Amino acid sequence: MLSNQDNELLTRVGPGTAMGELLRRYWMPIAAVTEFEKETVRPLRLLGEDLVLYKDQAGTFGLVDRHCAHRRADLSYGFVEECGLRCNYHGWLYDEKGRCLEQPYEDTAAPQARFKDKIHIN
Ligand code: FES
Repeated sequence: MLSNQDNELLTRVGPGTAMGELLRRYWMPIAAVTEFEKETVRPLRLLGEDLVLYKDQAGTFGLVDRHCAHRRADLSYGFVEECGLRCNYHGWLYDEKGRCLEQPYEDTAAPQARFKDKIHIN
C-alpha cells in the first residue's frame, strides 16, 4: 500500500510535478491523423493541461495552450489559417510553437513596438 506522499508523487502529472516532468519526456499518441480530415481543431486535456490540437492549412500540426495569452479566449473556437491558429476574439495569430505571429490592432497602431515578439503560449 502506498503512502499518501507516494500516491501524490505518482499520480500528480501537471507541469512542474516530478511525474509530469518524467512523462513529458516520452512520446504519447493523442490523436490520429485521419481525425483531422474533417475537423481541424480539437480541445483536449493532457497531463493536467488544457490544450488545443490543430492542423493548419499548410498541414502543420500544433499543440498549444487552450487559452489565448491576450484575454484567455478559448482557442478551440479559433480559426485555422495557412500558418497557425487565429484567436476568434481579437485575432491574434499563433504558430505551432505558440509564438504570436500577428496582432491585428497592435500591428496597425504601433508596429514598431513589436509587442507580439514578447508573447508566447505553451
Ligand atoms: S483574447 Fe485572443 S486575441 Fe484577444
